[in-house]
Amino acid sequence: MDTNSNKKITTASGAPVVNYEDTMTVGPRGPVLLQDYFLHEKLAHFNRERIPERIVHAKGSGAYGTFTVTGDISQYTRAKLFNTLGKQTKVFARFSTVGGEKGSADSERDPRGFAIKFYSEDGNYDLVGNNTPVFFIKDAKKFPDFIHTQKRDPHTNCKSPTMMWDFWSLNPESLHQVTTLMSDRGTPFGYRHMHGYGSHTYSMINAANERVYVKYHFRTQQGIKNLTNEEAEQMRGKDPDYAQRDLVDAIKEGNFPKWTLHIQVMTEEQTKTFRWNPFDLTKVWSQKEYPLIEVGVMELNEIPDNYFAHVEQAAFAPAHVVDGISFSPDKMLQGRILSYPDAQRYRLGGNYEQIPVNRCPFMVNNYQRDGAMRTDGNYGDTPNYFPNSFDGSYQDQSYKEPAQQLESLIADHYDRNAPGENDHYTQPGDLYRLLDEEQKQHLIQNIVGAMSGIEGPKKAQIVNLQLCHWFRADINLGMGVAQGLGVDMNALSQHMPNK
Ligand code: HEM
Repeated sequence: MDTNSNKKITTASGAPVVNYEDTMTVGPRGPVLLQDYFLHEKLAHFNRERIPERIVHAKGSGAYGTFTVTGDISQYTRAKLFNTLGKQTKVFARFSTVGGEKGSADSERDPRGFAIKFYSEDGNYDLVGNNTPVFFIKDAKKFPDFIHTQKRDPHTNCKSPTMMWDFWSLNPESLHQVTTLMSDRGTPFGYRHMHGYGSHTYSMINAANERVYVKYHFRTQQGIKNLTNEEAEQMRGKDPDYAQRDLVDAIKEGNFPKWTLHIQVMTEEQTKTFRWNPFDLTKVWSQKEYPLIEVGVMELNEIPDNYFAHVEQAAFAPAHVVDGISFSPDKMLQGRILSYPDAQRYRLGGNYEQIPVNRCPFMVNNYQRDGAMRTDGNYGDTPNYFPNSFDGSYQDQSYKEPAQQLESLIADHYDRNAPGENDHYTQPGDLYRLLDEEQKQHLIQNIVGAMSGIEGPKKAQIVNLQLCHWFRADINLGMGVAQGLGVDMNALSQHMPNK
């Protein structure tokens, strides 16, 4: 927008405003006249400036950029955005913290959201991941309870380490993600210096209609850089918005951040013999067994001219896949397919897909009509039903996915942590053992610091149960945390449940 040209101020309906600052009054000292309509309009619009913040991931930063294909993965997928070397696709990325409100600090210990919208010719493809390859839970039904513990205590309205550790200790499947969160990766140095992951297992379908399963890894070309616990704490006071500022400054200086996208691939056969459930979001796939395969490079190079229009109104959804990419039986992923568009209809309104940042720039054609804030012409005078004899619309069968063979004919509520699904300890233990000495010390100190906040009548029970999990992951990790907390080891052994 040209901010230098002279423009007369108008009301929202376009009438020139002759006095923008002084309300019309009877005499210089009032009272105020109702007929100064512009006063009402200005105050009323101001009162409606806020929309509900995202229920999670409320604080975030966004940028546009490009994705360029650098690796040939056509044997796995026919997705057009990945299918030609050198092909470029416009993207919009949004990074975020999870638990804080829209005004919270960027350097909280928290996972970071890593959401990418690819504006592909077959529709928008949203990869809505985090900077961690795993997650705290493995069934969508547990998400609201989990998030309640990350938000504010309903009584004190404060964040509560007691609620957090109570939940984690009672849900040991969280241990892998909690270990990651308590490491220095829990406080990344802004958004440019972290990897991103699709986290879930997705599937890809090739031109021969064959399906493989994949995990996505965006590896930062800026190098991993984290804040220590102390640095993060200082940053919260010094510059609560530093991750936003860092991204804006880097892009404005032409220092465009880049990530290389890789996939790991598992065939349908390999999913049947994998040591863990390959669709369990609390587990990673070994990169030795399932090596990274390069796909392309994402570069972010444009900060949107208006934060609210683009970043706040952005709506990402794991439901948005495109031809050649599909879902997996991951129970969390299946829950997310429902949850995001539902949240966005509430947060932005039923026609949110028409907002420019969300609109597919290629083609949208269907029979959804009307609704609040319809601003795109509503398909004019064309038919609003299908099939019809007029408009030539058709269902393109060339996009059909291969049928899926299901594992079972029995519907039930299966225990997510039943035998065979209950190894919560090997992978977090491996993660701990991979760290160097300094990183191990930081992890232990961070856990001790966080667990020291547990309070109240159930304190000992919660601490002891969580300690059992750390011991099971790795005896040295358990010892380090127990010593840091000053726990009496004899008393602890009485709380150790049998494995
Ligand atoms: C079943 C579990 C989950 C549910 C029900 C859930 C639900 C939600 C909801 C309702 C939002 C707000 C959407 C909006 O208002 O636009 C959201 C945002 C988000 N979620 Fe989840 N979530 C789940 C798990 C996950 C997981 C496992 C990841 C990462 C691997 C993730 C990453 C994100 C990100 C990055 C955003 C912010 C997107 C943006 O920048 O606008 N979520 N989630």
